[in-house]
Amino acid sequence: MYDTIIENIGQLILPAEGPLKGEAMKELNVQENMAIAIKDEIIAWIGPHQQSKNKKAAERIDALEKTVSPGLVDPHTHLVFGGSRENELALKQAGVPYLEILKQGGGILSTVQATRSETEEQLFGKAKRTLEQMAGHGVTTMEAKSGYGLDRDTELKQLRIVKRLNDEGILDLVSTFLGPHAIPPEYKGREEAFLEEMIQLLPEISEKSLAEFTDIFCETGVFTIEQSRRFMKASQELGFKTKIHADEIDPLGGTELAVKMGAASADHLVAASEGGIESLSRGETVAVLLPGTTFYLGKDRYADARRMIDAGAAVALATDFNPGSCVTYNLQMIMSLAALKMKMTPEEIWNGVTVNAAHAIGRGDTAGCLQVGRKADVVLWDVPNYKYIPYHYAANHAEIVWKNGRNV
Ligand code: NIG
Ligand code: FE
Repeated sequence: MYDTIIENIGQLILPAEGPLKGEAMKELNVQENMAIAIKDEIIAWIGPHQQSKNKKAAERIDALEKTVSPGLVDPHTHLVFGGSRENELALKQAGVPYLEILKQGGGILSTVQATRSETEEQLFGKAKRTLEQMAGHGVTTMEAKSGYGLDRDTELKQLRIVKRLNDEGILDLVSTFLGPHAIPPEYKGREEAFLEEMIQLLPEISEKSLAEFTDIFCETGVFTIEQSRRFMKASQELGFKTKIHADEIDPLGGTELAVKMGAASADHLVAASEGGIESLSRGETVAVLLPGTTFYLGKDRYADARRMIDAGAAVALATDFNPGSCVTYNLQMIMSLAALKMKMTPEEIWNGVTVNAAHAIGRGDTAGCLQVGRKADVVLWDVPNYKYIPYHYAANHAEIVWKNGRNV
């Protein structure tokens, strides 16, 4: 006796195990007239609809003319923060660049102020509501970064919230320490001392198991390549896996550094050099692209996903959800932007939000694929086929989301 059978499935999306690099991203296994059975939080059976008819289940869901996929994986979010930044919209409209707003003490730094001043309970409640929204849009595994504290207490406060939210089990969270996200005002002109303070925090974060990854914003006016290398090395020595906000605005070479250091992912990559793109094909680093950010910052130049895939890279997609550069809960919208602005095919896009996204956050073995024996993270989409989601943009097509076999 199963708990749930999803039967009569119009299209069932079965991404291969990855990471999928280059050409392999172009393949997507889509089967028609299928069924899935869930028991005790696990995918217990997958097979042709005909064979599901004589199986018993407490609940049967008819997925005729609908699509079923693995729960989506969002491998880059800034989930926990105080305040909001709608006032920056006018500055953006006036053409003030993102890094200029930051330089003037706004941008990330205004969110730092708000995050420092709000209580843990306030921030927790807000992040939980966000999480529920994102889960309702089809995401069952998500990465979440700190980086709006820039001091010990607030960074730990953010990381504790991520841990508590993960314990609640609405969806799986993967925690990333992004202490070096900006230079806080009290360290202005003393970047080295600030970076050192963030490095000094690593042992405590490791002892308290508050993060699995670390991340750094490698960008003009923020942290240099050399500083990024040092931070990544210190992180790795303590057993953290690493990520980097790389080559978003200026081509500093963060992509090459990520590959050289064996980072799990290099994120943004809008300005990545030819050599950087080339290096992705040789290494283990997943390119996490964030077209929602480019869109929201009003830029014309998107990350060159086509060249990356053609060069043999593993590409994943993420929201970058945060209060300044990408304010959306909807990874489906990112799938549309990937199609429209980066010319990714529907097959590449699905691989980018499932299997490759899982690999970008060290969850390749548990998330991003539908396989018997894996936990039942499944989405029923109210769309007739898998190409429909990138096509019909900015809507929420998720009808039912199962996390570990339970309805979200
Ligand atoms: O990934 N680029 C740096 N960090 C974030 C934005 C954070 C913010 O603006 O609050 C990003 O886009
Ligand atoms: Fe980010």
